[in-house]
Amino acid sequence: MAVTKASLNPGRERVGALKSISAQDEKRTRALAAEAPPGNPGVSADTGSKGNFRFNDNRQKYLMFVNTCTEKWAVGERVEQELQNIHPKPPAIRVFDAGVGDGTVLTRVMRSMHLRFPTMPFYIVAKEISLEDVRLTLEKTPDRFFEHPAMVLVITNLYYKEAPWLNPQSISSASTLSWNEVALSGTTSREFEKQITALQPMLAENWRTTVNKATGNLGYERPAVLVLYREDHRFLLNSVIPRRGVGRADYDLVIASQPYRLRASVEFKASRVLAPLAKALGPGGRLVAIQSHGGDPGHEILKGVWKDENPFIHDRHQILKAVKEVLGPAARSLKFNSTPENRSLFRHEMHTMPEEIAGSIGTSTLFAAWNAAIYVGQIEDARLEQVLHSGEYIDVTREALKKHGGLWFWDEAFCISRRRDF
Ligand SMILES: C[S@@+](CC[C@H](N)C(=O)[O-])C[C@H]1O[C@@H](n2cnc3c(N)ncnc32)[C@H](O)[C@@H]1O
Repeated sequence: MAVTKASLNPGRERVGALKSISAQDEKRTRALAAEAPPGNPGVSADTGSKGNFRFNDNRQKYLMFVNTCTEKWAVGERVEQELQNIHPKPPAIRVFDAGVGDGTVLTRVMRSMHLRFPTMPFYIVAKEISLEDVRLTLEKTPDRFFEHPAMVLVITNLYYKEAPWLNPQSISSASTLSWNEVALSGTTSREFEKQITALQPMLAENWRTTVNKATGNLGYERPAVLVLYREDHRFLLNSVIPRRGVGRADYDLVIASQPYRLRASVEFKASRVLAPLAKALGPGGRLVAIQSHGGDPGHEILKGVWKDENPFIHDRHQILKAVKEVLGPAARSLKFNSTPENRSLFRHEMHTMPEEIAGSIGTSTLFAAWNAAIYVGQIEDARLEQVLHSGEYIDVTREALKKHGGLWFWDEAFCISRRRDF
């Protein structure tokens, strides 16, 4: 493994020595990562205004949700459909994931990309502020480097307005940017896995977060960019490997899966999340956004506990209209595609076996279903505490499972694309 850049040096002695991360650092990073919003501070988890309640992504809820429901698979399949609509140009297909989470969506999309474009070089940038999510994502990548050697994978903790270009906006942030380039040696998944695992101490050092005292928002302590590629493909990838300070977005595909808090204002979703992402599209590029839609058995559970509950406050039409307004004249080169319901909505569900629902439903199934419903509905802990003492939520969940023979949800997808002649 060839690792360049001075900032790696302090961590270098510790490469391969995971045990050496101080317990305190690890605890602190984990605690902060647990609070990591899906995007950047004040963008995805927040409503953006000072003093507002900040939604904290509960780690356990997220992990339980992604492991018990098919959502991230279904999102991967929805994004895959967009591969037929992109028009990549040499030297590489350019993809940006605006909040990679546990990496399930991205690695599934990478497999689909390989199927469709087996010999084209990939340039893939994944934005993620949570250290634990960076770990979960990276551990899914060794086989990707094996199957698709012509690939540059970049992970960054930069903000939405910075990440597509790999450029911090303020001069002080730019001067502290930790830019690490890792050329993976060898030719097998196991060799790549070893070298990627050995990066953990460096990641723990670079992926620290800090809470802005004025806004309560979470941000990076130090901006960081990690560039990974196979050493034996360095020559081929020379013009694809990004260089510090020479930012280029021009993406063929931007993935924005659940990139903001559902209850954030529409102005916020448009101006702080989707508009900067739309600006990062290259000619013929396509942004696909996915959000929860409601009106499903999961929503029924929420309403069974909190009558009239509706976290799904903006549909794709409202959001696209707001993005168009925010972009002003810059919207002229873009197309806003809010397709009819039958083409925008797709389903995902909780994994259950028929016999689990037919008989007396076990507690772990009930808890997983309740967790999925409150996770999708992004119900804050304080509100949960008020209902957990009575067993009503379990009865409501059981009834919904019985009535629908399981649990399923609607997601909604919409696209923004850049005209090819711009
Ligand atoms: C790390 S981000 C999203 C990462 C990645 N793009 C993904 O789709 O898994 C996770 C955040 O997205 C939100 N989120 C993820 N899946 C969701 C869903 N199905 N419904 C509602 N919110 C969701 C949660 O607020 C959580 O804070």
